[in-house]
Amino acid sequence: MPNPRPSHTSLPPGIDPGHVPVHVACVMDGNGRWASSRGLPRTEGHAAGEEALLDTVEGALDLGIRWLTMFAFSTENWRRPAEEVRYLMEFNESLLVHRRDELNEKGVRIRFSGRRDWRVPRRVLRRMDESIALTRGNRRMTLTMAFNYGGRAEIVDAVRSLVSDGVQPADVTEKAIRSRTYHPDQPDPDLVVRTSGEFRISNFLLWQIAYSELVFTDVLWPDFRRQHLFDAVAEYQRRERRYGGVRG
Ligand code: FPP
Repeated sequence: MPNPRPSHTSLPPGIDPGHVPVHVACVMDGNGRWASSRGLPRTEGHAAGEEALLDTVEGALDLGIRWLTMFAFSTENWRRPAEEVRYLMEFNESLLVHRRDELNEKGVRIRFSGRRDWRVPRRVLRRMDESIALTRGNRRMTLTMAFNYGGRAEIVDAVRSLVSDGVQPADVTEKAIRSRTYHPDQPDPDLVVRTSGEFRISNFLLWQIAYSELVFTDVLWPDFRRQHLFDAVAEYQRRERRYGGVRG
């Protein structure tokens, strides 16, 4: 899919303008370790991650990336200590409140991916809905926050939706499952970046990453800045994608 870049930005050196990924997804990992190494509570690491998130959005806008998906809270993260879970709920809520106008002014459409179940506080859902409504008309970039998101849960929800509509087994195709994912209009990620030196996917976008390029970096999320995104994109541009075929 062509990815026209806005003409007012200048690309960093080493990036091929004709080959910028359309969709980049990030696993923001390492906040806890960043804080612990400084003798701080884990929650301070999350707070420090906000700057990294905003700088990454800026960098993605500079590159002309059209879709950016960030893993903010997984269906498994409820297993973290109650105090940290409470902090993360409030943190995500306040992040939305004080950053959404800025994102809106930059032409960013905010969306969410995940289960809206009873565990997500009502006020957080309200902030999400307000942010979606505020930015609905923006098209420069779609920022999807994966929140109470699990890749397996998404597949389960898609299949449940087909079953509840009485779809016959022969009609349960890849296309049908995709059509029931949380955001069927979203292209699959070209590139997934995970920070903090862990080499795993942790239940992120399982359906969508079948042919994504994966880049892992040792940088802890609070230290991640747009230059690290540019480095990941440069690495992506050195890869050869074959989709199961042979070299073209
Ligand atoms: C997956 O690792 C990582 C995530 C689900 C990201 C979690 C991110 C945050 C809690 C901070 C969000 C920060 C901002 C700035 C919004 P995992 O730890 O869930 O899985 P693992 O145990 O396999 O490593």
